[in-house]
Amino acid sequence: MRTPADKKKFVREKFSSISKHYDLVNSLVSFRIDRYWRWVTTRELRLFPEGPVLDLCAGTLPLSLELTRQAPQRQVMAVDFCEDMLRAGIDDLPNDNRRQRIMPVCGDGEEIPARDNSFWGCTVAFGVRNLSRPAKGLAEMCRVLKPGGKLLILEFSRPTNFLVRPLYFFYLNKVLPAVAGLVSGDKEAYDYLASSIAKFPEPENFLNMMRQAGFARVRRRTLTFGIASIYVGVK
Ligand SMILES: C[S@@+](CC[C@H](N)C(=O)[O-])C[C@H]1O[C@@H](n2cnc3c(N)ncnc32)[C@H](O)[C@@H]1O
Repeated sequence: MRTPADKKKFVREKFSSISKHYDLVNSLVSFRIDRYWRWVTTRELRLFPEGPVLDLCAGTLPLSLELTRQAPQRQVMAVDFCEDMLRAGIDDLPNDNRRQRIMPVCGDGEEIPARDNSFWGCTVAFGVRNLSRPAKGLAEMCRVLKPGGKLLILEFSRPTNFLVRPLYFFYLNKVLPAVAGLVSGDKEAYDYLASSIAKFPEPENFLNMMRQAGFARVRRRTLTFGIASIYVGVK
């Protein structure tokens, strides 16, 4: 992918192609541990149980659902640029009042369709890695958060433990694309997953990018041997 525009087109097409199988494949290949990661991420927002929250790169809405499950008054704007992912999520929304509290919006995370200072929280689960211009995306997240609002980025990271690391990379590069490719019919999408994890900045560099975008009190919280991380910042 030579340009940011190429990456954007590729990412949108890949998510569109796997949208109907996305949740099933996630549960299969992560042994459902991704649910625990989203739960922990959402708990970081417990001081803001009522204010509006932006769930960026919301996909099939799993994090939006967790955000509204943990706080019965919370309203969530769920933004994603892949309409098919949002539609798959909307079709599976439970028949309770969370349907009214989640507002799906088809839009670009690098040009967030919201006013300055709108949200108390912004979450991005497994989405930042996919942005074609992550610095622009981070600046936009900062713009739409209220002063004092919290950014939570849940993203895959590379474990450093000498026992876990080789096993994890074998699983990520060989087993996962084969299984996920079979179920979803698009192995290339899951080869891309492995390569995008490999290319993601080192944690300290990513925290610096968050600082440059305007966030303070930035920190990283590792999950499950460092296979995933939550990056936290405050506007
Ligand atoms: C791996 S999925 C994550 C979905 C969901 N957050 C979750 O926890 O499973 C990444 C999502 O990011 C979206 N995405 C990637 N780049 C985007 C952008 N520039 N603007 C909006 N959404 C984007 C994709 O369409 C995809 O739905």
